Amino acid sequence: SLPSALELVAKAPVVPVVVIEQVEDAIPLARALVEGGLPLIEVTLRTPVALEAIRMIAAEVEGAIVGAGTVIDRAQIEASLEAGATFLVSPGTTPSLAEAFAQTPIPVMAGCATASEAMRLAELGFEILKFFPAEASGGAPFLKSIAGPLPHLRFCPTGGIGPANASDYLALPNVVAVGGSWVVPADAIRAGDFGKVRVLAAGAAGLKRAAKF
Ligand code: 3PG
Repeated sequence: SLPSALELVAKAPVVPVVVIEQVEDAIPLARALVEGGLPLIEVTLRTPVALEAIRMIAAEVEGAIVGAGTVIDRAQIEASLEAGATFLVSPGTTPSLAEAFAQTPIPVMAGCATASEAMRLAELGFEILKFFPAEASGGAPFLKSIAGPLPHLRFCPTGGIGPANASDYLALPNVVAVGGSWVVPADAIRAGDFGKVRVLAAGAAGLKRAAKF
């Protein structure tokens, strides 16, 4: 059976979605997020150094819970596990990816964007689904609507979420956390301004959520 993703997201209302361009940014960035109160860190597998960044954060940043994002195939699952990822996130879920996730020994937030996709993943045993791209796929009104017929489904929406709308999502009982890149702005990382990341993380960590755990 699949491991629990719920325990993981209970730790923070926001999962920062991180793109690491330079591997030397990985540790100071992760430290800033943890210090700000966001221990969950999704490092997207979109850059050549992403796996090395996961490896470094897992080994060296106390309190960080680092996962791999943008996982789209079995080889990336294996590489993420080998690097020390403690959770996996995907933007969408093909049948073969779902099969591979079901055999993965760490929590997974599998991506979906429609009622049918969400129902299929729930049937397969996935506890928390990534709703992506959240704003473009109907946003908080979609999640509010789906809670009527399908109240047992729980989501971590991502895509287009920021300080202006995060609370709209977190006010919903079926939203356990939100994901987003707004706490890790590319310009701040390029400038080495990890103090800014810490401040943004602290703001995000203070967001209230309605979901019960
Ligand atoms: C993701 O992979 O979840 C998104 O790229 C993050 O979306 P955002 O940049 O709109 O927060």
